[in-house]
Amino acid sequence: MSRFFVGITGASGHRFAQTLVRALVALKHEVHVCLTPAGSLVMEHELGLPCGENGDGLAALLEQWIGPGASELVICYDPRDVGGEPASGTAKIDASILVPCSMGTLARVAAGFSSNLVERAADVALKEGRTLMIMPRETPLSRLHLQNMLSLAEMGAVILPCMPGWYHKPESLQDLLDHAVGKVLDRLDVEHSLGARWAGLHSEPEEAGIRRAAEGEEAP
Ligand SMILES: Cc1cc2nc3c(=O)[nH]c(=O)nc-3n(C[C@H](O)[C@H](O)[C@H](O)COP(=O)(O)O)c2cc1C
Repeated sequence: MSRFFVGITGASGHRFAQTLVRALVALKHEVHVCLTPAGSLVMEHELGLPCGENGDGLAALLEQWIGPGASELVICYDPRDVGGEPASGTAKIDASILVPCSMGTLARVAAGFSSNLVERAADVALKEGRTLMIMPRETPLSRLHLQNMLSLAEMGAVILPCMPGWYHKPESLQDLLDHAVGKVLDRLDVEHSLGARWAGLHSEPEEAGIRRAAEGEEAP
């Protein structure tokens, strides 16, 4: 079992975070989750889950958000809790993922601002040389957004935009989400069967590798 930190911000795309946390829980990994206050607004807007003004109400909605059994593996933090476990480099967190990552959080992490637990956990991943994966969401991207991504990439962060592909012939929104989250899990070195693996241009999608159905597995 690995331990991951997932920081959820006020960018659009909360289904990506939900799909990632569901997949990690289904694979029996421990997930430390923190939602920013702006993230709380967006989560209510996109997923209909009211997590409170400060994003501290997520723990009470865990089963609704992730599904049965989530409370055994998911630990939620108040974003103001900068004394929480993920705030220290001594805590054994294998990798931190910011998904979706707003341009605000991106800028503050690039500048080492650490004004809440999401930004602090990202700062810790950088200073400890651990995987920091950022899934930015904005369009179009300004020069400043691109500069912030470049400086984080130069510091070792993985920039993996919420940018699903179409070549695997998705039939549903969940197929698109699974494809993108499968790429995150690959970069985290987590074994999974999410989405389809490419097996060449002339292969049928069913033959194109690991599809959930082929493994008799339900989407998480
Ligand atoms: C519905 C909604 C969608 C938003 N989508 C984005 C987005 O995709 N990208 C972004 O950078 N900001 C977006 N914002 C603005 C951020 O929430 C805002 O900049 C906020 O201050 C970010 O705070 P945080 O980084 O602490 O979460 C959105 C706001 C709302 C209410």
